[in-house]
Amino acid sequence: MPHTNRRVFLKQYRDGMPLLEDFGIEDSAVGDVPPGHVVVKVDTLSIDAWIRTTLTPGSFHETAGLGATIRALGVGQVVESASDALASGDWVFGPLSAQTHALMPVAALTKLDLSNSLQPRDYVGPLGLTTGLTAWVGLIAVAEVRSGDTVLVSGAAGAVGSMVVMLAKARGARVIGIAGGPAKCRYLTEQLGADVAVDYKNADVAAEVAAATSGGINVFFDNVGGEILDIALENLAPADARIAICGAISQYSDLGNVRGPKNYLKLAERNAVMKGFVVTHHAARFPEAKAEIAGLMAAGKLVLPEQVVEGIDHFAEALLLLFAGGHTGNLLVRP
Ligand SMILES: NC(=O)c1ccc[n+]([C@@H]2O[C@H](COP(=O)([O-])OP(=O)(O)OC[C@H]3O[C@@H](n4cnc5c(N)ncnc54)[C@H](OP(=O)(O)O)[C@@H]3O)[C@@H](O)[C@H]2O)c1
Repeated sequence: MPHTNRRVFLKQYRDGMPLLEDFGIEDSAVGDVPPGHVVVKVDTLSIDAWIRTTLTPGSFHETAGLGATIRALGVGQVVESASDALASGDWVFGPLSAQTHALMPVAALTKLDLSNSLQPRDYVGPLGLTTGLTAWVGLIAVAEVRSGDTVLVSGAAGAVGSMVVMLAKARGARVIGIAGGPAKCRYLTEQLGADVAVDYKNADVAAEVAAATSGGINVFFDNVGGEILDIALENLAPADARIAICGAISQYSDLGNVRGPKNYLKLAERNAVMKGFVVTHHAARFPEAKAEIAGLMAAGKLVLPEQVVEGIDHFAEALLLLFAGGHTGNLLVRP
């Protein structure tokens, strides 16, 4: 059965933030399906910060070639199969990319477990590799959050940050979230249950973080880097704080000139640990993470708010929205 694929590709590299004109859209026929491959009709794509880094030469996430389909993780349904491992109708997760129909080797895909009322979209949301699992790994496997900890989260109103806020609250921590603007701060306290929200765009962040944490941060989950990382270092608890470096979105547009932490000596002064992580390096703990998150979902204690952009033609706009702070919660595209 012939399928027509509509895809979004990179037309040109740009110094700094990409513009809409750097992306192209084209239709083409999906060719024959080789043995061991399937055609997946893409249902939902996750708009993630790492995609931005692939648009720059020298990216640590592998630079996208000019003309190549923009990479993205997503879920979809098999509509044609030349493999015994997957059948038409199966739901899968994988690197489906910014397109409507993905011709993929089955080895690149994971069949979804849709038991216990789980929905395909959950696998790019609370159970998603780059959302819920990233939050769980950073907070629990890396920062070893404990009940009673004071937890500071930057980029708190985004996909990973929202999950961190909810997981930290579920583990009995006191949570302070940092986000841009009053609406996002209300979202943090009223929808997610954060104890305090700090508006880094309109407040004196250093003063508000100091007041909200009383200089007693036990865990800092950092999505943003730059000045906010220095402020967190300044306010670490007197001993044994843990900083999980998840990302540094404030630095992704100029990776050749990343601003390092001026206050790193606080680590020595306060006997603290700062540790980076890549979520995939912690795959051995995914079953534990999925069980905890799915349990909270089933109990009605965890709902990850979504912002959905409809249509593959709007993929690039959605990606740029992520860096303009134009979304709240989990940003998704439905092709
Ligand atoms: N280590 C890993 O394995 C791993 C895996 C997945 C993701 N990550 C990282 O996790 C972080 C969050 O990713 P995400 O996909 O969930 O994105 P996201 O948090 O949903 O969206 C990014 C948010 O960052 C904020 N932001 C953008 N530019 C900023 C700046 N210059 N300064 C401060 N805040 C800024 C914006 O919120 P405001 O409106 O509040 O500014 C925006 O909503 C990223 O750093 C990403 O690289 C790491």
